[in-house]
Amino acid sequence: MKIVHYPHPALRCQAKPISSIDKKIKLQIGEMFDLMYEAKGLGLAATQVALPFQLLVMNVSGDPDKKEHEFVYINPTLVERKGTMDGEEGCLSFPGLFQKVRRAKTIKIHAYNLLGEKVEVVASDLASRAWQHEIDHLNGVLFVDKLGIIGKLASRGALKELEEEFKYAQQRGDIPPETEIKALIDSLLSES
Ligand code: CO
Repeated sequence: MKIVHYPHPALRCQAKPISSIDKKIKLQIGEMFDLMYEAKGLGLAATQVALPFQLLVMNVSGDPDKKEHEFVYINPTLVERKGTMDGEEGCLSFPGLFQKVRRAKTIKIHAYNLLGEKVEVVASDLASRAWQHEIDHLNGVLFVDKLGIIGKLASRGALKELEEEFKYAQQRGDIPPETEIKALIDSLLSES
């Protein structure tokens, strides 16, 4: 498992709801936390590790020792948003790119935890931003889609570089060709 970078097609897939929490998914969650901490992120969506499922891991403290801030959420939905805020945002799938994104200040989410229990979360500020960013991922939406005209222009160079890097990685054989990636995602989607 590894974190995929833009423009990997997995980042654009609509994640599928999870219907059962088995051993395999628990192992994947552990790996996702490891990758997230290694990359110094606050959250990671399953689509970012090329798994097309409605699953995300979070620790807005970013500190692996603060286990009380570690959360796993399954099938999350945003049910309420209030206010707006502007702030800088980055993404582990876009290394080095940071841009201002407008988000709702406070949100309410419904999701399931690892025990399969329904949970309701209300979050503000940084946690709210992290939530909106990660839920977007599960719908194939990326933070660069949310930029204003100036942010879009300012990101063009960085995006082009990532596109070139991705192309070279494919040429080297480090990343499979597009058709192969898509077939793999489709097989995961039809599996369970
Ligand atoms: Co992200």
